[in-house]
Amino acid sequence: MSTGTGRRFPDGFLWGSATASYQIEGAVKEGGRGPSIWDTFSHTPGKTLNGDTGDIADDHYHRWQEDLGHIAGLGLGAYRFSTAWPRVQPGGRGPANREGLDFYARLVDGLLERGVKPVLTLYHWDLPQDLEDAGGWTARDTAYRFADYAELVARELGDRIDLWTTLNEPWCSAYLGYASGVHAPGRADGAAALAAVHHLNLAHGLGLQAVRSVLPSARGSVTLNLHVIRPADPSSDDDRDAARRVDALANRAFTGPMLSGAYPDDLLADTAHVTDWSFVRSGDTEIAHQPLDVLGVNYYSTGLVRRWDGVGPRSEEDGHGDALGSPWVGADDVEFVRPEGPYTAMGWNIDPGGLTELLLRMHREHPGLPMMITENGAAFADTVSPAGAVHDPQRVDYIARHLEATGQAIDQGADVRGYFAWSLLDNFEWSYGFDRRFGIIRVDYETLERTWKDSAHWYRGVVARNGLD
Ligand code: NOJ
Repeated sequence: MSTGTGRRFPDGFLWGSATASYQIEGAVKEGGRGPSIWDTFSHTPGKTLNGDTGDIADDHYHRWQEDLGHIAGLGLGAYRFSTAWPRVQPGGRGPANREGLDFYARLVDGLLERGVKPVLTLYHWDLPQDLEDAGGWTARDTAYRFADYAELVARELGDRIDLWTTLNEPWCSAYLGYASGVHAPGRADGAAALAAVHHLNLAHGLGLQAVRSVLPSARGSVTLNLHVIRPADPSSDDDRDAARRVDALANRAFTGPMLSGAYPDDLLADTAHVTDWSFVRSGDTEIAHQPLDVLGVNYYSTGLVRRWDGVGPRSEEDGHGDALGSPWVGADDVEFVRPEGPYTAMGWNIDPGGLTELLLRMHREHPGLPMMITENGAAFADTVSPAGAVHDPQRVDYIARHLEATGQAIDQGADVRGYFAWSLLDNFEWSYGFDRRFGIIRVDYETLERTWKDSAHWYRGVVARNGLD
């Protein structure tokens, strides 16, 4: 299948694919692993579609060697995965669980043997349940426990890791976990969510310091799901202000401390009626502001907002559900408008231009900071042909158009070093369970058999030629 533009990427561009521990591993009670907030949440009736849980997921814990074969077969230069904190420290504190560390050590060695660079994420949402019971991310102590955990992993895996990523999408951990409640731990308390924002920022800084205390030359990063938010009516001051407020909550609440060492004034003012931010102590934002080698960018779609006039129901088109509350803490007069399609099976709009815009914005605001697309991809309702093939031209088209959009940002000066397709495998899509399939490789959840979709065959070609055909 031709996708058209013939674009080539810079020499050394890193081609990868990504997964996360709870979404693929299964074996939740094996190898000394303790329970995480996602075990508890997914086992709570009504929290996930069809009551799905990660108990088995892709059974990657037992099939990791086969999965390494797929990674190598695709010709990937890098593989992005996460370590499960409750495998390494079952209760979130104390000494390391040897079996947990061994699992990741074997995986990393297997990647290196195949010439694949390990890109490790320390936290992709599976907080040990014991830490949640002590307050979770609303508790300052959790950030210090994260640093201890980071140090244990760094001591074990050492210089075998190409890039250390502290957190994946802390926006989701804070706002979906503690404000809207659609993710674990399922709380709905705006002030708690803002405390979580801060403790995640602090954890990022402490975690990176801990890794570098063991490995002074470790390359460090964080992965953010930066939002591209546009005003529904660009000529309306109200709508532009709504976009600014959402931008503060979604983006600058993290890029402020992590990349510039301070919270933006407008964020503090906009949320003053929710919290006084007294959980921010002197020196915290300096800790959050660690030198980064790469900024990880996850990108899927764009958002459209307007000022809600208070008449009629407030639109819930923010793509994140509204189970208990809104993720947009304090922005009670902002509503999301459904953007133009087409849409993926998540109901997210397809807007590759937003990726170019986002990369150029980051390049402008943080010049000299290299970036990587640590996630991009799409869920579609795949079907299996009688011959056993999965023809997924929409996914190929989605990825191709976003690669072209990345290339356009590079042409205009953005320093983008790599691209990771989300995801290597169909997997547990959080509150959507196994219903939404993002993989370039299909997983049959009855047999756990893996089958390359057309997109995997196509992506292998992209990787081999360092560009589009
Ligand atoms: C971002 C998250 O990091 C990942 O876990 C999730 O599956 C994808 N987006 C798709 O929603």
